[in-house]
Amino acid sequence: MRIALYPGSFDPVTYGHLDVIRRASRLFDKVIVGVSNNSKKVPTFTLEERTDLIRRVLREEHLEDVEVGSYNCLLVDYAAEVGATVIVRGLRAVADFEYEFQMSLANHKLRPNIETVFVSTLERNLFISSSLVKEIAAHGGSIKSFVPAVIIDDIMTKLYHQGEEQ
Ligand code: PNS
Repeated sequence: MRIALYPGSFDPVTYGHLDVIRRASRLFDKVIVGVSNNSKKVPTFTLEERTDLIRRVLREEHLEDVEVGSYNCLLVDYAAEVGATVIVRGLRAVADFEYEFQMSLANHKLRPNIETVFVSTLERNLFISSSLVKEIAAHGGSIKSFVPAVIIDDIMTKLYHQGEEQ
């Protein structure tokens, strides 16, 4: 069975991520979305909130076969732990490439039996990023083109209210 791990911060999950999840689920027998609890980045949403938002989106999109997990270690170590032989990363623009290429080479050095596969996102999702979504939400803008409807309220409640308190 070919298990693929799709890792990221998902702070929060967007239509861009969802597109990659959907494509990966057609390519592999099992897809695990791995939510990184990487201490280098201070996330806006807690680990529990981020995993919960992903689970709700997957349920809404009838992608119940896709599993969600989280990790606090090296990405490749988590991949090995869950039995994944493939790491899936989404590529939006050329700007993503250098970092992604470097990471895939480093990961290959660390665990040569794990391959990185890049999936390109749909044209309409090319510019979507979690940071962009948060910036728009913090200013009260509409994020309905960027994230699934089922999580809009959660994002607006957290970010718009935070913005108002400052
Ligand atoms: O959402 P992001 O920021 O693109 O996620 C980056 C990712 C998944 C690499 C990061 O959050 C992560 O897994 N960090 C754990 C440390 C690690 O393994 N880094 C890559 C080593 S080359």
